[in-house]
Formats: sequence, structure tokens, C-alpha cells
Amino acid sequence: MEDQAVELSLRPRYLAEYIGQTKVKENLTIYIEAAKLRKEALDHVLLYGPPGLGKTTLSTIIANELGVNLRITSGPAIERPGDLAALLTNLQEGDVLFIDEIHRLHRTVEEVLYPAMEDYALDIMIGKGPGARSVRLDLPPFTLIGATTRAGLLSAPLRDRFGVVSRLEYYNVDELAFIVSRAAEILGVSIVGEAAMEIAIRSRGTPRIANRLLKRVRDFAQVRGDGIITHTIAQGALELLQVDPQGLDHIDHKMLLAMMTTFSGRAVGLDTIAATIGEESQTIEDVNEPYLMQIGFLQRTPRGRIATDQAYKHLGLTPPERN
Ligand code: ADE
Repeated sequence: MEDQAVELSLRPRYLAEYIGQTKVKENLTIYIEAAKLRKEALDHVLLYGPPGLGKTTLSTIIANELGVNLRITSGPAIERPGDLAALLTNLQEGDVLFIDEIHRLHRTVEEVLYPAMEDYALDIMIGKGPGARSVRLDLPPFTLIGATTRAGLLSAPLRDRFGVVSRLEYYNVDELAFIVSRAAEILGVSIVGEAAMEIAIRSRGTPRIANRLLKRVRDFAQVRGDGIITHTIAQGALELLQVDPQGLDHIDHKMLLAMMTTFSGRAVGLDTIAATIGEESQTIEDVNEPYLMQIGFLQRTPRGRIATDQAYKHLGLTPPERN
């Protein structure tokens, strides 16, 4: 199977198979059940949180649990209002429309979405100038699932139109070890408990990373071992992949080192850090920073970001005197 096909097959298809995000899952279970009992479309759902935590997977699960079709698109892919109108008019009653990166919708497209979400209606302008008039088309009741890395990136009117707003959290290592073991079973590879745990610890709370590391560790086990993922094999492979014992990667290291050396531990702005290490501010803000903050390596202060004493210790450096 191609990597992408494998990736898809690793994803859980129903809530019962989905590990972690207990609160989100509990709530969704109730809302889905209630919508089914009332034979109504589920209210619109906004999922937010760092990349790789399962926003797309959850939307697939929601559609499966509801027994409806799922249409997947993304904010930047919908260029004009007409593109969104085409998507909406092709929905069947109760269907789920998933818009990834919904914070990147064009303002003109967003405005078409408001009446669609609120009244299941599409307002179309016919003609131009003084003779122009607006025609309202009915849409079938549907569920919009929007996904974004940060809810704060959404405009207030859009955010307010979601009846369910759920924040996905980083997974703990036990959950990730479970996910790794489950994925290994689907891939048909044997893995010992300590190896699953080792991968889990280095996956920075993110199933997408855990599954990616598992696949690379599996390659290593096949070439350097007898195919079984032992603890030693996992450690050797992860070493080679340059994933450190806390799951920090090359970019995390560059970022922290720049803060500690180039800026001598002074508070520094995100864009400055990004420019210094030659990475995108957006990636750092969405991917690296939330995890470094979560493990207590980075703090945001009004004057900028600072690396904590813990981060210095992790990199074997002496923290500066702070007062
Ligand atoms: N694979 C990726 N994410 C998962 C999850 N949350 N539960 C089970 N398997 C997964």
C-alpha cells in the first residue's frame, strides 16, 4: 500500500475505536445521538487545536456515526463565493461539509456561509447595479465542521455560528502508546510494550507523529533486526531520526538555541526568532510553540518569548541570571 493509503487505514472510523480526547468524544456522542433521535442535522461543529491531533479523523467519524456523506474541502481551496455555492447545493440532507483551515476563508466566501449556517439558505445576487436583486435558495439541512489551529484566528461572526466548539488537546503518553500498538496491529508488525512507549514519549502528544515514527521504526526493524520492534530497535531508530528523548526535533532545537545564544536569553518576538532560524512564523506558532509551552520549555511574556530554565537544562546549557 502507498504511504497515504496506509495513513488512511490507520485512522479510526467510529468513536468506539477513537483513543483519547475523552471529553470531546463524550460530548459528541451525546450530540450525535440526540440529532439522530430527532432526525435532524447535527449542529455545526468547530474543532480547533494543534495540527495532527485528529480534526479530520473526527469529522470522518462524525459523518460515519450519523450515517451521512462527508465532503472535505479547505478554506484556501474555496476561492470564490460560487465555489462554496456549488459545494452547498450538492449536499444531501444531513450531510457533513468539512472545511479545514477555515480561518483562511476569503471574506466574500465567509459571508455566503452565514445564512447557509444559520438558515440553510443561499443568497444569490442576480444582475448588477440598480436593477440587481437577491434571490434566496433553500439548502438541505447540513452540518458544517470547521477546523482550525486556533479559534482566535476566526472572525467573531463565524465563530458565533458554531453550536459546538471543541478544543483538541495533546494526547498523553499512555494514549499514544495505545494508538501506536493499534497501528502496529493494523500494519501487521510486532511491537513490544516498551517500544510502543518509547515512540509515544517522543511523539510530542501527536498521533500523526506517533504513526509516522512507527513506520520509520518498522523500516529499521526490518533492515537491522528481524522485523520485531524491540525497545533497542526503537531507541536506535529514533536516535537515527534525530528525535530527542522529549520528542523535540531539529526546528525546536534551532529555535531554543537561537533564543539562548543569539539573543542571550532575552525576551524575543516570534517573527524575529522565525527570521533568525529561517522558518515560517506561522509554522512555529502553530506547531513548535504550543508544544514547547505545554512541556514548560517556553513562556510567552508581554515583551516576547523566553526559554525556561528547564529548556536550558534539557540542552545542557546554563540559564542566565534572571531578576
Ligand atoms: N490514529 C490516529 N489517531 C487516533 C486516535 N485518536 N485513536 C485511535 N487511532 C488513532
